[in-house]
Amino acid sequence: MQAVAAEARRIAPALDDGELLVTAAVLHDIGYAPTLATTMFHPLDGARFLQALGMPTRLCALVARHSCALKEAELRDCGADVAEFPDEETPVRDALWYCDMVTGPDGQRLTVDDRLAEIRNRYGPESLVGRFLDVAQPELVAAVERTIGRYTAAGIPQPKYG
Ligand SMILES: [Fe+2]
Repeated sequence: MQAVAAEARRIAPALDDGELLVTAAVLHDIGYAPTLATTMFHPLDGARFLQALGMPTRLCALVARHSCALKEAELRDCGADVAEFPDEETPVRDALWYCDMVTGPDGQRLTVDDRLAEIRNRYGPESLVGRFLDVAQPELVAAVERTIGRYTAAGIPQPKYG
C-alpha cells in the first residue's frame, strides 16, 4: 500500500485530481482488513466501509472498481454489488489502476507484464484470479499505458523497474 501510494504521489502532479488519486491509493486495499471482510471481496468490502463512513462517492467508487474489480466480481457472483459503484473511466481511475499494476506485493516496482506474471504465479493460472486476469489483462494494460503517456507528457519520468 505504501509503495502504491508513493507512486500515486509521484505522478499526482500530472493529474487534475492528484489528491483524490493519492487518497484512493492509500485506501484502495483497505477491504483486506479482517475486521472489514464481510463479502470477502476486498474492493467491495473496502468501498462499503468507506461509504458507511460518509466518504466521497468518487473515492468509494474508485476503491470498488480498482484494477478491473468488476470483472473479478462477476466471477465471484457479486458483480451487481460492485456495479452499484460507477467506474468513472477517467485519468485518475487509470492512474490508480496503474499504481496498483506496477507495484508488487512487497512494494517492489514491476512492469505491468511482470506484475501480471507475478499475480498469475502466486494464485495459479487456473485459479479464479488467473481466469480474471485472462479477461482483465487488456483493460489493465491499456490503463497503464494511458497513464504512462499522460505523466511522461507532463515531464515525469517512468520509474526504475525491478
Ligand atoms: Fe486490490
